[in-house]
Amino acid sequence: MKILVVGSGGRCHAIVEAIARSPKASKIYAAPGNAGIAQLAECVAIKDTDVEALVEFAKNNGVELTVVGPEAALAVGIVDRFREEGLAIFGPTKAATEIESSKDFAKRLMVKYDVPTAAYATFSNYDEALAYVRRGSLPTVLKYDGLAAGKGVVIATTMEEAEATLRDMLLDTRFGEGRVVIEEFLTGEEFSLMCFVAGNKICPMPVAQDHKRAYDNDEGPNTGGMGAYTELPFITAEDHDYAMRNIMQRVADAMVEEGTPFTGVLYGGLMKTPQGIKVIEFNARFGDPETEVVLPRLKSDAVDLFMDVACGREPKAEWSDRATLGIVLASKGYPGSYDKGAVIRGTENVESKIYHMGTALKDGELVTAGGRVMIVVAEATTLREAQQKAEADVKRIECDNLFHRTDIGAKAFK
Ligand code: AMP
Ligand code: GLY
Repeated sequence: MKILVVGSGGRCHAIVEAIARSPKASKIYAAPGNAGIAQLAECVAIKDTDVEALVEFAKNNGVELTVVGPEAALAVGIVDRFREEGLAIFGPTKAATEIESSKDFAKRLMVKYDVPTAAYATFSNYDEALAYVRRGSLPTVLKYDGLAAGKGVVIATTMEEAEATLRDMLLDTRFGEGRVVIEEFLTGEEFSLMCFVAGNKICPMPVAQDHKRAYDNDEGPNTGGMGAYTELPFITAEDHDYAMRNIMQRVADAMVEEGTPFTGVLYGGLMKTPQGIKVIEFNARFGDPETEVVLPRLKSDAVDLFMDVACGREPKAEWSDRATLGIVLASKGYPGSYDKGAVIRGTENVESKIYHMGTALKDGELVTAGGRVMIVVAEATTLREAQQKAEADVKRIECDNLFHRTDIGAKAFK
């Protein structure tokens, strides 16, 4: 079978590798892919959001299944267009992607279907939003809901900060009109529960934990994720059952009920609070870097699994019971500005898996080409061993412009 994977980062590399393990994959294309993915797939220079070019490519090259990594491609309706053309594709429709792209949509759905999440209110008017914040307590969580990406989530600890944030989100209309979702501040351990979803049929992946802050001890700015691991000792079987029943299955059913059935990966960003497990956010796709530590444990045939989901059949997956732990190597300066083009040596001495995030080949040498450059993923019987292996392998990679966190997985050992 000829398969096209849309995307370019470490997540996409892990998806391509899982597909490459299947005897059913005769040819893998990646659009646009990267230097690491190029070892397993033919990279084609088409942007992930150039839907018409991707449709053309799939038709002209006899692609029988397309798997989508990034949200941007889903949000512009890649799945709808492929389906119109009768092409099999793994991912949610544009309407179903709203569970990620619109925070207000996700919140309304959760309230309507009694899915546990932080209390909230949505505002487009600055004065009303400010009055609401003044009536509530601090810290307060302010989430921008609109077309302008990047304003993101602000956890305001003072009234001055809340006011300034609201002004920026609601009064500065440079990016167009936006709304703000104001949420109750929750505390607890965060974890990621991804499920394969085909309508109301769902199948969980191993629970993982991301590390979003740039530096050790969760200090520094938010990033695209500096590392991840599976499994999480503080998430019990009861927690898992609860989250599957009251969150993931309920949302899958709700999406069917609402006339926007979900197909693909539903990512629950969850928090184990003193009041029980609650939803922080949903994503409509594989998480990054969670996918890089989850898919290596997939024992089932990835092509069958993705095809079942794409065709609306019940997804079934078996997982190895190995622990996995991944450490991201990022360019110094990331998530701020950073230099590119630093030579990377020593990857051939690494025993763990390496998934490329932002690399390129220059004059035959591997060089840095992005903020997050690669993730080193170790597998072992225990998480401790996986951590030691990953750390040892990271030291084997020589490059003078990379840094990494040294505490990935630390919360599992508390
Ligand atoms: P989001 O983009 O919704 O995932 O938010 C980014 C990060 O902000 C999350 O990973 C949490 O660490 C934090 N966060 C979001 N919502 C809340 C909340 N209601 N309470 C506490 N922390 C939150
Ligand atoms: N790991 C968080 C995300 O994929 O959005």
